[in-house]
Amino acid sequence: MTLPAFVAARRSIRAFDGRAVDRAELDALVEAACLAPAPHHSRPWRFVVIDTDAGKTALADGMGDRWQRDLEEDGVDAIRIDELIRASHLKLTGAPTLVLACLTWDGLDRYPDETRQRAEWGMALLSLGAAVENLMLAAADVGLASCWVAAPIFCPDEARDALALPTEWSPQALVLVGYPDAAYEPRVRPLVPLHDLRAFR
Ligand SMILES: Cc1cc2nc3c(=O)[nH]c(=O)nc-3n(C[C@H](O)[C@H](O)[C@H](O)COP(=O)(O)O)c2cc1C
Repeated sequence: MTLPAFVAARRSIRAFDGRAVDRAELDALVEAACLAPAPHHSRPWRFVVIDTDAGKTALADGMGDRWQRDLEEDGVDAIRIDELIRASHLKLTGAPTLVLACLTWDGLDRYPDETRQRAEWGMALLSLGAAVENLMLAAADVGLASCWVAAPIFCPDEARDALALPTEWSPQALVLVGYPDAAYEPRVRPLVPLHDLRAFR
């Protein structure tokens, strides 16, 4: 069996040409995301499509301030912190569109104990990953580049407040979306070492 070509064709692309992405196209990507499997037939995700300079700057500033504080507490030297924060700011403000994927408790079960409550949230988070993959596959299918950026999962409250989102929306993942810079070469993708990664029983 060969791999489905559309799965193999999606790559993380981190450079874009200057073109803006039409909002109807962005809506189609979010719709594809929302076809992902989710626990209890819920749709615990919320997607914030950020294609204005003000929105991108607010998010980059809010998450950047928090990251700067974390790096200072880690004892990273000031010059390196400055480099990292500037690069991250440029990455976010330079992308044509950012899609911020958030989780809510909407439709999820509640448990009286911490263990099952955490499992329920974990289950929803898995489904958010599936939704994000759908979004990126749909983007690749129409010639759009995308790249998942982890940052919000480290600072969900700061990301939420930067965009004045409802308190129950918890940002978990960010996807850069745009038309690919033709000169960008995706990183070499190693072969899948199937024997190390899967077991039959
Ligand atoms: C949860 C998650 C977080 C990621 N965070 C980042 C990130 O912060 N910055 C980045 O450039 N790529 C990020 N990536 C993209 C991975 O680096 C990329 O998927 C991986 O190198 C495989 O490359 P491919 O997507 O082209 O197959 C992330 C991917 C995932 C799934």
